[in-house]
Amino acid sequence: MTSIMQMITLGSVTFCLIGGVAALSAEQSFYPPALNNTAYIANSSIGTYGGIYRAPTNGPTEGTPYGIYDYCSMPHPRAQEYALPEPLEQGRAKGKLVYLEYLQRHQRRSPYNILPEGENQAYQCDSVRPYLYAGPNAASGVQPIPMYAQTYQDHTNPFTPGVNGTCQYPQITIGGVQDGYRHGRDLWAVYGQKLGLIPREPNSRVWFRSSNSPLTQATAGAVLRGVWPEYHGALPLHQMVSSVDTVNEGYSCSAVSSTLSDIESTTEWKAHLNVTAELRSILGSMLGATDSSWQGTFDHFSDNFQARLCNGYELPCSVANASNCVTVDMAEEVFRAGDWEWNYYWRTNPDAVKYIQVVEGLFIGEIISRLQAVIDGKSTVDYSHIFIHDGDIGPILGALGIDVLRWPAMGSNIAFEIWETKEKQSPFYARVLYSGHPVQSIYGTLDWVPLSQLVDILKRYVPDDIVSLCG
Ligand SMILES: *[C@@H]1O[C@H](CO)[C@@H](O)[C@H](O)[C@H]1NC(C)=O
Ligand SMILES: *[C@@H]1O[C@H](CO)[C@@H](O)[C@H](O)[C@H]1NC(C)=O
Ligand SMILES: *[C@@H]1O[C@H](CO)[C@@H](O)[C@H](O)[C@H]1NC(C)=O
Ligand SMILES: *[C@@H]1O[C@H](CO)[C@@H](O)[C@H](O)[C@H]1NC(C)=O
Ligand SMILES: *[C@@H]1O[C@H](CO)[C@@H](O)[C@H](O)[C@H]1NC(C)=O
Repeated sequence: MTSIMQMITLGSVTFCLIGGVAALSAEQSFYPPALNNTAYIANSSIGTYGGIYRAPTNGPTEGTPYGIYDYCSMPHPRAQEYALPEPLEQGRAKGKLVYLEYLQRHQRRSPYNILPEGENQAYQCDSVRPYLYAGPNAASGVQPIPMYAQTYQDHTNPFTPGVNGTCQYPQITIGGVQDGYRHGRDLWAVYGQKLGLIPREPNSRVWFRSSNSPLTQATAGAVLRGVWPEYHGALPLHQMVSSVDTVNEGYSCSAVSSTLSDIESTTEWKAHLNVTAELRSILGSMLGATDSSWQGTFDHFSDNFQARLCNGYELPCSVANASNCVTVDMAEEVFRAGDWEWNYYWRTNPDAVKYIQVVEGLFIGEIISRLQAVIDGKSTVDYSHIFIHDGDIGPILGALGIDVLRWPAMGSNIAFEIWETKEKQSPFYARVLYSGHPVQSIYGTLDWVPLSQLVDILKRYVPDDIVSLCG
């Protein structure tokens, strides 16, 4: 897939040549200008618009050059490239980092969606140990054996999952663990060593949370080990009761599905299905993926293909005919269609504000209250790190008004940095990084924004009364 993309270096700046046409920087690979147009999907000369969708089984991995959109392992702040906000860099202002709200998607994993007629390759997860054990809330008393899940197949079980191997679907893969550790090392180098915000050892001013998914929990262990390689104790990973969780669509809300169904009834949505009719028909008959869960959106195809490519496997073939395989061109069109859908869900559909409110409004409200506590001098935490999903990162970037939204990929991250200055009127400024780059948004580049202004941008996405909105 990278064969159509060439890197050239001119002076100190690296550009990618895509299909020999456009030249773009790593950051530009996040913002395909034509994405809000269904013609983008069918245009094969766009390829992956500079994106990377392949990684070996073992990590750590990341795109080259640094900072490029990489579905398998998105970039994150790194000491080598990290620059202070412009006014500080240029000495026009003096400021100190006083708070970091860090949100990230879990790292790479096996797929959620197994092909309806089965997978022609096995997935192996023997190289990773998903731990699961419980003990008392004290160092004394019964200490459990660190048990881990070992998935196996039993030949007496007449049911088949449609795939051979030793994984659960989904589960974190060894590459995901290794990428997570690297992610944490790099965060330590920036926010610990360089900026002095993250403490040398976890203390009462750090706070962690995850969704109820083993993917985010496993990611937390790997990333935080990278932050604190020598730490010996255990740490609390805060979670809400799953039936009311404010991330990963935990609470039930009929307005989520009714809004989604409105979004998927528009002329634009239908046009995107129209331009992909031939592709969906080929994939449907090749892979037995003809029902509406596979045909109605590109979620399942995209999930299935990226999980293979991002863990060192090949694109799938028909189980009935080993020479009838998904081609790189087909996969790239699937990924372009997936990107179009994410941009549509969270940016350009007519109901985007309402959709963000019902899916993510409560969580956005929680972020605002932590930012407000910093403004009020009442914050009890300096570093909050929350492990969530693409379905959370997408609406938050939508609320921030990101210019263009590609699918928030593995390990994608948002860093809300809060800086305190000596200014009397407005001492607090925010910078918002998306996967290491200041967010380019309809409000301008979010590199140095008065914190109260950032709060105002986000506020309109917090519903006054979610309970009645949800019906
Ligand atoms: C996206 O495209 C639609 C349909 O052509 C248009 O109505 C809308 O204004 C566009 N939105 C943006 C943000 O460009
Ligand atoms: C396809 O994309 C290329 C850029 O890669 C652009 O020059 C061309 O105009 C596009 N074609 C269509 C039909 O949109
Ligand atoms: C899965 O394993 C079974 C039993 O060993 C074997 O018969 C089958 O061919 C395998 N399928 C694939 C796609 O490898
Ligand atoms: C989809 O394609 C069909 C047949 O080509 C056409 O009749 C219909 O108007 C198209 N719909 C949209 C929304 O583009
Ligand atoms: C298997 O797939 C290949 C590639 O699509 C095709 O050329 C061939 O005719 C197929 N074989 C059968 C038996 O369907």
